[in-house]
Amino acid sequence: MAPLIDPFARPITYLRVSVTDRCDFRCTYCMAEHMQFLPKKDLLTLEELDRLASAFVRLGVEKLRITGGEPLVRRDILTFFRAMSRHLETGALKELTLTTNGSQLQRFAKDLADCGIRRVNVSLDTLDPEKFQEITRWGKLPAVLGGIEAAKAAGLRVKINTVALKGFNEDELFGLLDWCAKEDHDLTFIEVMPMGEMGEEMRLDQYWPLKDLRARLAERFALTELTERTGGPARYVRIEETGQKIGFITPLTHNFCESCNRVRVTCTGELFMCLGQEDMADLRAPLRASESDELVEQAIRAAIALKPKGHDFDYSRQKVAGQMTRHMSHTGG
Ligand code: GTP
Ligand code: 5AD
Ligand code: SF4
Repeated sequence: MAPLIDPFARPITYLRVSVTDRCDFRCTYCMAEHMQFLPKKDLLTLEELDRLASAFVRLGVEKLRITGGEPLVRRDILTFFRAMSRHLETGALKELTLTTNGSQLQRFAKDLADCGIRRVNVSLDTLDPEKFQEITRWGKLPAVLGGIEAAKAAGLRVKINTVALKGFNEDELFGLLDWCAKEDHDLTFIEVMPMGEMGEEMRLDQYWPLKDLRARLAERFALTELTERTGGPARYVRIEETGQKIGFITPLTHNFCESCNRVRVTCTGELFMCLGQEDMADLRAPLRASESDELVEQAIRAAIALKPKGHDFDYSRQKVAGQMTRHMSHTGG
């Protein structure tokens, strides 16, 4: 079967599936405190999500990341992970993984490892319990740290995702670094993107360019650029003094769209061709129109043929450009 290649000659081999738009946290840069979630009746069933993801695997997707909202709050989600693990067994998938806020990992880590998951990305912006509650509104740091511990105990490799926030976690840069070194976690920093309804002024106030963060690291450590890739957007450096690997996801200061290999499916079967554009194709209708997967495969191919070149996020000139009204939790980051 012909692989998925977009109009800019980029092979699409990475699918992110958001299995729910719900979350047990309300991170300020991601959600409003009182969110209107999708009615449950609009959600694809786990069987339908399986059909969709499996169609992508047939079309050449090798890396499948489950996201949300918070993926582990979707009811019966292990059934879906177990189902997807069959694609690891056949060798069609090289990686099955998830991005989580960590709140439910104590409960799920062992079962996830049993499904063939080898690493998890856990979002964590601060190690201070009070600041943690401030940024997540509803989160409790001990539960997340316990979840990370459980993941490690289950043999999962943990990558911490930290959104770089000016005036919020600037002072924790070296603290986070030391903690990750001690715990043997990888660490990736992310520039805050203009998704959701946060006002322009607040967004600009909280933006901490990773160029600056990296310069601060370089004052203390020798950094070596690595060529190694995980198939995601991060670029990695090694800290020579500690051997740690640090990732940078820089949609603002260094656009990585030219090497984009990914698309996103939401829990209602919308296929978003780019995180930073409105372009979307409905896969639920073709999925439900027929028991065979022919229609849905056609719809996927047609959508990939329209994948945009990239996002238009830009904060230079002290203005927010490329703003998306869609929340990050809708497409799963
Ligand atoms: P690895 O497999 O560890 O490389 O993970 P990943 O970076 O692919 O996945 P993760 O869920 O950890 O993604 C981290 C964040 O990177 C996402 O939540 C987004 O904020 C951002 N990101 C990922 N892909 C894109 C993209 O295509 N465009 C933009 N602008 N941001 C992206
Ligand atoms: N900009 C950058 N990253 C974001 N995330 C959520 N909202 C934003 C935003 N506006 C991150 C989360 C998590 C990942 C899924 O996306 O912190 O690590
Ligand atoms: Fe939930 Fe993740 Fe959004 Fe925070 S960033 S509210 S953990 S979906």
